[in-house]
Amino acid sequence: MSLRVFAVEALADFHTTAAISPGSKHLASAMSEPLPLARARVAVEFGAGTGAITRALLDELSPSARLLVFEVNPRFVTHLKSTFSDPRLVVIHSSVENVDRELCRRGCNRVDAVASSLGLGFIPEPRRHALFRRLVPFLHEKSVLTQYQYIHGLQFENGRLRRLRLQPLLRRYFDSVQLRVIWRNLPPAFVFTCHRRRPQIRPARLDE
Ligand SMILES: C[S@@+](CC[C@H](N)C(=O)[O-])C[C@H]1O[C@@H](n2cnc3c(N)ncnc32)[C@H](O)[C@@H]1O
Repeated sequence: MSLRVFAVEALADFHTTAAISPGSKHLASAMSEPLPLARARVAVEFGAGTGAITRALLDELSPSARLLVFEVNPRFVTHLKSTFSDPRLVVIHSSVENVDRELCRRGCNRVDAVASSLGLGFIPEPRRHALFRRLVPFLHEKSVLTQYQYIHGLQFENGRLRRLRLQPLLRRYFDSVQLRVIWRNLPPAFVFTCHRRRPQIRPARLDE
């Protein structure tokens, strides 16, 4: 069922879906394992799709924590809401570009773990940076972010296909970036694990 929902959306809008199939269970484990989920109070997922990574995150998440999931595609949002009945899960039908506003609205000023499946290569460079600048004030010295990218690493730039190297982007916002390859996924993917290790910058209040 998830596969069919995913394939229909990938065909309808490949630019946003940025994938041909949901992440495998191997990719989901590689995305969730490095995150401090057992002691997290707030975890965030960027681009949940049909919930392949969401499920792995919920499996590891502490019972009293919240998982705030951002998904821009309304059909994926409906699918997530009908598939998961976990009270820790909050599905937010909004672009990740509103991350600061959506977190503040929910009284959240600290994020312990972030799992991102966004196709960053399909997001123009200034908007990629704007996204990380909005997220970073919520991260503290023990926050961890995982991000996956297919090993071909292709991106669209000015209507052309090029390779996007994610490491320089992530290094700008994180102090350590580790990489592993997950072959058992279609297509195989890199998983980047990023540690911030810097004290938190207080998030700006919305009325400031
Ligand atoms: C590569 S898919 C990953 C889906 C799922 N996490 C998985 O691994 O199977 C990327 C997802 O990000 C969502 N997405 C793309 N741009 C987004 C944005 N700006 N805000 C929130 N979600 C976005 C897409 O709709 C899609 O569900």
